[in-house]
Amino acid sequence: MEHIGFNKPYLTGKETEYIRQAVETGKISGDGIFTKRCHEFFQQKYGFQKCLLTTSCTDALEMAALLLDLQPGDEVIMPSYTFVSTANAFVLRGAKIVFADSRTDHPGMDEEVIESLITPKTKAIVCVHYAGVACDMDKLMETADKHNLVVIEDAAQAINSFYKGKPLGGIGHLAAFSFHETKNVISGEGGMLVINDPRFNERAEIIREKGTNRSKFFRGEVDKYNWVDVGSSFLPSEIIAAFLFAQLENLEDIQQKRKALWNTYHDALSGLSEIQRPFIPEYATNNAHMYYLVCRSLKERDALIWHLKKQNMNTVFHYLSLHKSPYYTSRYAGPDLPMADRYTDCLVRLPFYYELKESQIKDRIALAINEFYQQSAVSSV
Ligand SMILES: Cc1ncc(COP(=O)(O)O)c(C=O)c1O
Repeated sequence: MEHIGFNKPYLTGKETEYIRQAVETGKISGDGIFTKRCHEFFQQKYGFQKCLLTTSCTDALEMAALLLDLQPGDEVIMPSYTFVSTANAFVLRGAKIVFADSRTDHPGMDEEVIESLITPKTKAIVCVHYAGVACDMDKLMETADKHNLVVIEDAAQAINSFYKGKPLGGIGHLAAFSFHETKNVISGEGGMLVINDPRFNERAEIIREKGTNRSKFFRGEVDKYNWVDVGSSFLPSEIIAAFLFAQLENLEDIQQKRKALWNTYHDALSGLSEIQRPFIPEYATNNAHMYYLVCRSLKERDALIWHLKKQNMNTVFHYLSLHKSPYYTSRYAGPDLPMADRYTDCLVRLPFYYELKESQIKDRIALAINEFYQQSAVSSV
């Protein structure tokens, strides 16, 4: 039986041509013509105020944490059901992480609990648009404005997704995107910081260039560059940017294909009352980043993964909620977050990539999942 993997990076065909062009310019370090093209693409298409490519979303989050000028003991609120980098970036700056639970209808953060987690030490809220599905941004921005907090959108999975018509990544003060090879648009490793609040513009450039004002120097605004602040080396080489630009030129095609695959899954699994299928609130769009199911228990989820594995199909679980992680529990009393625990134990991600065929979804993956639940219904009678 043909193997169906979980992910397969998609190449549009222009990547190596653009890398060759980048090499031929004689400048392959960062901030050359392909980096500029990528920045312009995002600024024009989504109206983002300022974009800075980084070498990963992790780096973009670390830049955001540096921009906040956090002091030890400052608190940052975020969901527990997220990737390590969302929290680690702020821990590196000495912040205390305050975890929020997930929603019942969706693995994203429960916006209703945020206000109760705010203390005089709170400096920022990081929201994660899980599976590219928007958090309720009006609610979050209103709460943040009331308490004078910075909002950072972890938009790692959220390219080309919208909240009430506004592009994700363009609503919070700052946002971080990922172009890791598992995302809709990729460059192997890669990321981007979006700055929507211009008060961060100048410092963001400095932080990204090792704490120097080299960007100003290259624009001819100063006659030499100097060490002016803290920073690190966050900018990617032109080789990465050239690869990414080839992907961005094909964004519409990639999105159309992924949405068709997503709808095929959604229809093929619509008869299963036992599982929770992805939910898209009416204020959000679906960017078809992933297709996931939420099973009724850890045991059922593991049995389903095994059932598919036996038929040569790879499905995977996702985050291990951070409030239960060895790092966090050895330092803080982990709060009780039942929904984050539920998604940790019960969520399974199904194979999803551009070259997956609709027939593979219908005739192999969905068929096997439907069979699994028919068999378990029979065995429980
Ligand atoms: C929500 C979230 N934030 C951040 C990251 C880190 O992204 P990167 O691998 O580009 O550093 C990931 C990784 O998938 C993620 O899922």
